[in-house]
Amino acid sequence: MGMLDLKLAMASSVRKILVTSALPYVNAQLHLGHMLEYCQTDIWVRYQKMRGHDCIFVCASDAHGTPVMLRARQENIDPEVLIARVAKATKRDFDAFGVEFDNFHTTHSPENEELVCKIYQSLQQAGHILTRTIEQAYDEQEKMFLPDRFLKGTCPRCKSDDQSGDSCEVCGATYTPNDLINPISTVSDTTPVWRESEHYFFKLGDFAEMLRAWMAKAELNRNMISKLDEWFEAGLKDWDISRDAPYFGFRIPGTDDKYFYVWLDAPVGYMASFKHLCKRRSDLNFDEYWNKDSEVELYHFIGKDIVYFHTLFWPAVLQGSGYRTPTSVFAHGFLTIDGLKMSKSRGTGITAQTFSSHLDPTYLRYYYAAKLGPSMSDIDLNLEDFVARANSDLVGKFVNIASRCDKFISQYFNKQLATKLPDPVLFAEFVNAAELIAEHYEQREYSKAMRLIMALTDKANQYIEEHKPWLMVKDEAQLDEVHAVCTQGINLFRTLAIYLAPVMPDIASKTKQWLGEDDWNWASASHPLLGKQISSYQPLLMRIDKKQITKMIEETKASAAPKEAAPVATTESGEISIDDFTKVDLRIARIIEANPVEGADKLLQLTLDVGANQRNVFAGIKAAYEPSELVGKLVIVVANLKPRKMRFGMSEGMVLAAGPGGKDIFLLSPDAGAEPGMRVK
Ligand code: 2FM
Ligand code: ZN
Repeated sequence: MGMLDLKLAMASSVRKILVTSALPYVNAQLHLGHMLEYCQTDIWVRYQKMRGHDCIFVCASDAHGTPVMLRARQENIDPEVLIARVAKATKRDFDAFGVEFDNFHTTHSPENEELVCKIYQSLQQAGHILTRTIEQAYDEQEKMFLPDRFLKGTCPRCKSDDQSGDSCEVCGATYTPNDLINPISTVSDTTPVWRESEHYFFKLGDFAEMLRAWMAKAELNRNMISKLDEWFEAGLKDWDISRDAPYFGFRIPGTDDKYFYVWLDAPVGYMASFKHLCKRRSDLNFDEYWNKDSEVELYHFIGKDIVYFHTLFWPAVLQGSGYRTPTSVFAHGFLTIDGLKMSKSRGTGITAQTFSSHLDPTYLRYYYAAKLGPSMSDIDLNLEDFVARANSDLVGKFVNIASRCDKFISQYFNKQLATKLPDPVLFAEFVNAAELIAEHYEQREYSKAMRLIMALTDKANQYIEEHKPWLMVKDEAQLDEVHAVCTQGINLFRTLAIYLAPVMPDIASKTKQWLGEDDWNWASASHPLLGKQISSYQPLLMRIDKKQITKMIEETKASAAPKEAAPVATTESGEISIDDFTKVDLRIARIIEANPVEGADKLLQLTLDVGANQRNVFAGIKAAYEPSELVGKLVIVVANLKPRKMRFGMSEGMVLAAGPGGKDIFLLSPDAGAEPGMRVK
């Protein structure tokens, strides 16, 4: 072991760390804003793993609450079906972005139910729960209490119509639903009544002192502390943790019709996901991680909008029920695109799926890293800057080192690296940067780490420029030097690829394959690769063409459901223009479920995989097909048809078929090779 290896190995002993990202709602499609957090967390976890620490990354879907209940109802499916469907789409997005969890579970799980009930019972026994009767808007038609967001009415301050139950988008006023003028339930479009109900509250105020002490120890960032100070000043209010039936969640023990509010069981989902992981990892012990004196480090990565839940409720709930509290909470800012809030109609509400179907997410992981620090400031994805940086930093500078050196090693030296480095001093300079870069990763100062790495990248390019192997190859006598220079170049590149591996794991694995290496840890950067036979080089990244961005924006715009379908202009002969035709988004879809519809003679209910998401569609093809023979078939759908509410549920698209009708309906089953989500041209 060299001196540096030894230093790196001794740098710290193995830490046990448990890391989480916020749990994505089941009814939300993952977009680039979500991916900012998952990439930030994933980079940190990958870095810790490379340092040799026992770092576990868990997450889950946030499954409960009224919106999920209503969405499932609308689609006429059990919420469990919705959860399973979304889990698949979520996994596809995480895989595409290289976000690698040790476990991804769901809050609608037996582990979570057991834990949340146990936590609640402990809180109750310790006297931290009280009940109080409150008055709430009630929808008599749907027979349900209405959360604020399912109420609409006139703002009591500026009198703007169509404002939600708790705040006005026009004047920014916040109010209680009782103040809303002419309230309407958005579930049934009827006027709600006010009804009393008994609710369960968690006495947050019992924990004021404990929270102050926790805050100091957790080393929260400055902005977070000033937010917390404000909240302390305003007084810690009791927290309403119950909801009345009907509600999709876990029933509160000892009640018939009360359910835990989604925000109580959501963070418990962190524990439940870890518990679920313990079942398949016998080396992990749940109590070791969660007992009140646990020495394991526990970090939650979240967005700045949910700081209250994670720095007040959550530590207090944990403490009150006898568990450990988080070591710290790391909050990031929001993502803006081209300086503005993301918006579908502007084409910037880009989903993770749309992005990855146009561009390699590696570019975005790098761009996020180049912008991220430990603060809660918002991060702007400026699309022009994004293209410029990806093309210049990643393709022009970084990948270029590998491709230009490989060329000579392959062509003249049978893919064999030289046995000695011609410039060990330069190599040592790269190696010596390891600790500072590591420190930046540790502190979540990714932008500083990227700057340092890019400065070294410039040095590597400079080295090659100075030695000009492309000129030396022309002279037989200088071939040995070409060999040495390119071996040096490849080794400099390899060191940089190791430093960038937490950010660009995909490039790291392609590089390892090229260089014939099994695995890298942080210390792998300290020794050069010499005398080694390497494999054929495959291009690591291509330049981004601006057209790819334009297409992605166009696709996002098109997916924004138009408020009112614009009338299609036809000519006298009934023709439509090419512009009208191109408005129709035709896509390949795979039928993943087909069922008869009770009470409908002609209809079948189809669940379609359209690539970006799954759709519920009712199709009048019952006379022509048995449901079972449809499953697995590919069809063409109109993917941007405004969803229609039918008697049996929502229909979210239209399946195209040919034939006169009745038994003679023919679905197009395109050639093998077509994939769900493909555009039909
Ligand atoms: O804000 C959100 O998207 C929530 N679904 C996050 C929950 S994080 C944790 F507390 F469960
Ligand atoms: Zn207003």
